[in-house]
Amino acid sequence: MAIVTTKDMFAKAYNGGYAIGAFNVNNMEIIQGITAAAIEEHAPLIRQVSKCARAYANHIDLMKLIEAAIEDAQENAGFDLPIAVHLDHGDSFELCKSCIDGGFSSVMIDKSGLPFDENIAITKQVVEYAHDHGVVVEAELGTLAGVEDEVKVSAEDSSYTRPEDVQEFVERTGCDSLAIAIGTSHGAFKFKPGMDPKLRLDILEEVEKRLPNFPIVLHGSSSVPQEFVEMINKYGGNMPGAIGIPESELRKAAQMAVCKINIDSDLRLAMTACIRQYFAEHPDHFDPRQYLKPARAAIKDMVMHKIKDVLGCDGKA
Ligand code: G3H
Ligand code: 13P
Ligand code: ZN
Repeated sequence: MAIVTTKDMFAKAYNGGYAIGAFNVNNMEIIQGITAAAIEEHAPLIRQVSKCARAYANHIDLMKLIEAAIEDAQENAGFDLPIAVHLDHGDSFELCKSCIDGGFSSVMIDKSGLPFDENIAITKQVVEYAHDHGVVVEAELGTLAGVEDEVKVSAEDSSYTRPEDVQEFVERTGCDSLAIAIGTSHGAFKFKPGMDPKLRLDILEEVEKRLPNFPIVLHGSSSVPQEFVEMINKYGGNMPGAIGIPESELRKAAQMAVCKINIDSDLRLAMTACIRQYFAEHPDHFDPRQYLKPARAAIKDMVMHKIKDVLGCDGKA
């Protein structure tokens, strides 16, 4: 099957009360681990590529790996796995255009750091080009804390999305989905120990009332599994106090208007924890296949868990 847009996926997710996982991909092992999980769970899938991932792995290399995984999926699974390929946090019209021209089915233009009217102007420009080419667009209103594409936003500079702005933003830009800020943040340190790790689901509910049937996106949605943090710290790492979004909060959001949940840090944690453990237990091994194999398997297991227990999109492909 060809790469699809997120349009049908989101319509089904909205009506079905579940969300699709958008997993960041950077190399072959991550792509294979995620795909194997989606096949096993019959789950639709969004593979997303950041500007930094594209710079690291190269657009063509990533596209070919993604296309190969789609072919594998078809052969191994014997069914059509709906897969969208999405640009994560596009920061310019030119970057979005390059990804659209290069075969992505979805792009994000993230100008949430600009004043409202400037965010609208650039988002609209991307929407016009994307729609002319059959590609869908995610935009963002509100600012998440954390680190993304080399930009660091402190907790003080982050701000929740204002529900009173969303209708005008969507009408004026024509975007297909909207990322909002309700308390998630990028990276592995989302809350300080002792804080109440809750999302502002009341803001989500208010947004949903103003934008009925419109797909909402949550960034910064890793749950930072403590088993991986403990493994990292046990085997030579140093990540004290890494805390993520409780899975129960994400599950509630997925049952509401949230149709896409972004996960990157959890993949990094799973991979790093396994590799650290492997190195500690096999100091004489030096074949990358030996330590990347368990890392890939851990990614698969973790993504299967997300699909079944957090996103609720198992069996929806
Ligand atoms: O939201 C950001 C993603 O985690 C991508 O991170 O820019 O380091 O690839 P990256
Ligand atoms: P995490 O850092 O919580 O995995 O968020 C990833 C993300 O939002 C990618 O856009
Ligand atoms: Zn993000």
